Amino acid sequence: MSKKKTMNFETKAIRTQMERTPYQEHSNPLFLTSSFVFEDADEMRAAFAGEKKRNIYSRFTNPNTSEFVEKLCELEGAEAGYAFSTGMAAIFSTFACLLNSGDHIVSSRSVFGSTHSMFMKYLPKWQITTSYFKVNEPDSIEDLIQPNTKILYAETPTNPAVDILDLSYLSEIASKHDLILIIDNCFATPYLQAPIDYGADLVLHSATKLIDGQGRVLGGAVVGRADLVEEIYLFSRNTGPALSPFNAWILSKSLETLHVRVDRHCENALKLAQFLEQHESVAKVRYPFLKSHPQYEVAKRQMKKGGNIVAFEVKGGLEKGRSLLNSIKLASLSANLGDSRTIVTHPASTTHSKLEESDRLEVGITDGLIRVSVGLEHIDDIINDIDQALRNE
Ligand SMILES: Cc1ncc(COP(=O)(O)O)c(C=O)c1O
Repeated sequence: MSKKKTMNFETKAIRTQMERTPYQEHSNPLFLTSSFVFEDADEMRAAFAGEKKRNIYSRFTNPNTSEFVEKLCELEGAEAGYAFSTGMAAIFSTFACLLNSGDHIVSSRSVFGSTHSMFMKYLPKWQITTSYFKVNEPDSIEDLIQPNTKILYAETPTNPAVDILDLSYLSEIASKHDLILIIDNCFATPYLQAPIDYGADLVLHSATKLIDGQGRVLGGAVVGRADLVEEIYLFSRNTGPALSPFNAWILSKSLETLHVRVDRHCENALKLAQFLEQHESVAKVRYPFLKSHPQYEVAKRQMKKGGNIVAFEVKGGLEKGRSLLNSIKLASLSANLGDSRTIVTHPASTTHSKLEESDRLEVGITDGLIRVSVGLEHIDDIINDIDQALRNE
């Protein structure tokens, strides 16, 4: 694998690649093979003994997954990584590997729904418990730390209310209390934010979102400290959540254009947020790079741009939120985000409808909250669509 340590982000994303085969291909080939062959018994023995680093079986490593991981490590400034079939596989495997029965996690309450289910429903099966802090009350984190706390966890920006957590502050607390700091960097991508530079030990990704960027494949990854990643790798090699070579090939290609796509996503999102701030049917807009955002200063400090998610509060609550979706003509009504196609969702009546209102409010989901994953269509068309829906419903 060629390393490009001194190069810029864009060049690393394009030029980190696997060794060429004797065919001297320019575009990297796809290695659709479940296993790899050995010259003789001794080579096979050495590979299994870990004396020789080489591909054995694609549940462990494969040239395509290795290329994707190496590239992501270069972009995140990470020592090592491992790729998973989904973002949730990356999250679950990381926690399941690093924690023992009786351990405790301190996490931001504003985490992705399935991560919340993992904390509240599944990890307790192994006596692993989680205490939440509210995203706007980071001062409470230290009070939640117990002698058995092992991990401090957060997403920033959060889904769907795009709150921002201060990475330097989280890192300070984690090192003071000897906790492993894990950040889900899915909404920012390594192009906008590098949590490892602020002291994160591990960074998690759902590559399904902006890294793929075109809504085609699922994928996930963990990158960060080599000692922790080695443990996660050995755990995963035995438990089987590996990314498929085909999806890795797609995702590695996708990383080549991440910077160009995310620049345009952010440009469109900022324009939409500014438009919505002036709109008579909109009560409030949340976008990290709007001055009105409560953590605007932190966002400016740790993010290059504001990301592609705009959340806004339509006047009229639950009913208006729901009916707004019926008036959308161009954007898609879909559960995904980070796609080239703009996607509009109403969390209170869909993804978060099973939560009590008070629980929804804790994570910033008011009845009229609309989440827009701003795509790459012409911004005038995106604005016109949302404007006509706001006027028509
Ligand atoms: C912040 C965040 N983390 C993790 C995930 C899970 O990723 P996946 O759907 O690839 O399992 C999601 C999915 O939406 C997400 O938004």
